[in-house]
Amino acid sequence: MGPMSRTPLAALAIAAGLTLLAPPAYADSFTPGSAGLGDPYFPHAGNGGYDVAHYDLSLRFNPKTDLLKATATISATATKNLSRFNLDLSGLTVRKIAVNGKPAKFHRKGQELTVIPAKGLPQGEKFTVRVAYDGKPEPVNDPELGVTGWIHTKDGATVVSEPDGARTWFPANDTPKDKATFSFTVSVPVGLTVLANGEPKNVGIVPVRNGWTSSKWEMREPMAPYLAMIAIGKFKVSESVASGVTNITAYDPALAKQSQHLHKTTAKATEWGIKHFGPYPFSSTGGIADKLGVGYALETQGRPVYDGDTSDDLLVVHEIAHQWFGNSVGLRSWRDIWLNEGFATYAEWLYEETHNGPTAQQTFARLYKSKGDFWQLKTGNPGRNGMFDWEAVYERGAMTLHALRKKIGDETFFELLPAWAEKYRHATATTGNFIDLAEEMSGQDLDAFFKAWLYTAKKPKL
Ligand code: ARG
Ligand code: ZN
Repeated sequence: MGPMSRTPLAALAIAAGLTLLAPPAYADSFTPGSAGLGDPYFPHAGNGGYDVAHYDLSLRFNPKTDLLKATATISATATKNLSRFNLDLSGLTVRKIAVNGKPAKFHRKGQELTVIPAKGLPQGEKFTVRVAYDGKPEPVNDPELGVTGWIHTKDGATVVSEPDGARTWFPANDTPKDKATFSFTVSVPVGLTVLANGEPKNVGIVPVRNGWTSSKWEMREPMAPYLAMIAIGKFKVSESVASGVTNITAYDPALAKQSQHLHKTTAKATEWGIKHFGPYPFSSTGGIADKLGVGYALETQGRPVYDGDTSDDLLVVHEIAHQWFGNSVGLRSWRDIWLNEGFATYAEWLYEETHNGPTAQQTFARLYKSKGDFWQLKTGNPGRNGMFDWEAVYERGAMTLHALRKKIGDETFFELLPAWAEKYRHATATTGNFIDLAEEMSGQDLDAFFKAWLYTAKKPKL
């Protein structure tokens, strides 16, 4: 409802002596933060009224009992005067919450954890919220999007949370719009290995106490909650440096055969990405191969997770390309998912072009004349259930980029990709931002072009 229509209604209510409307929100009053951010696909995900700067997650996990005991300390800034605010958390038991060190009340409903601090939180001020919780984490099992979140494995657990599984293992502002830095302290029984995003902090020091050992990892660049990852289990870890970037990979020994090239392929894909897309956005690269049974890989920041086989170079190229497109240049709305998947898929086509594969043009031509799902969905708005549709989002997304390349020419196109990565580095962007940049760099009006390729459920004319 717009402001124009509110006044007569309010006047009417007052005239009728009714108290239908909430008291007016004066600038100095404290009101609740919203329970969702209204993403068209995931309206309850994320919360309003604050902005997270850092998550400090301290976790203790016993694979024998599947029990997680954790404390999350979240540093945030109020973006309005807050009387209360929400976090996203599913399952688990919340034991205690403190805001700025003082006990806070809370209640839960669905994925919403509402925190009621003893005192209102003034706009612009920093605050910390500390949540102590425990229980057996359960993954989200979505009939359309599959299994996400905390995945129990034979020897531990590994996390893959796209799009909204972060809430299965920590209280989060679970929206790609609110990036934050992360630190992880993870305690596990001696004999198990822990990996996470970023880099380990206590290299060489393995404190052991009562049969438990703990590791610290840090992700120093901003990260969306769905890209946060830890992996616990038996792993064979390799570390080296590729093009100046630390490369840390690990595989479940049961996958030794399928993962023998993971370390080298990751290095190669990272080096190749730097050449085409510009400086690598994070302080380390890598990959983790584990037996998850989810049926997909995920580009968890700086260190993708692979389910089972990693012998396909193109899969590794895809997940590494996401480090620029999806992770560093993040989404503002899930509707724009093609900005992640179309770009990562097109990276595969470009890689093939220079690695004895078909040219991107050959792949484009083959798909263009085939009868797929491509033409039935809108790539730029595939619907919540269609967001990971292979043909409509991944392939037609990549086709869109190839068609753009033909329209604006190789020279401009190959400047556009790194310019896009650079302009929105460690930020978020929309399809509109991409169209604007493509128009600016090519000097062409591309509205009709993108309308046909992204927003029309039919085959575009060439
Ligand atoms: N972004 C991942 C990839 O490209 C796919 C994630 C699929 N997620 C899901 N819930 N099905 O490769
Ligand atoms: Zn992808």
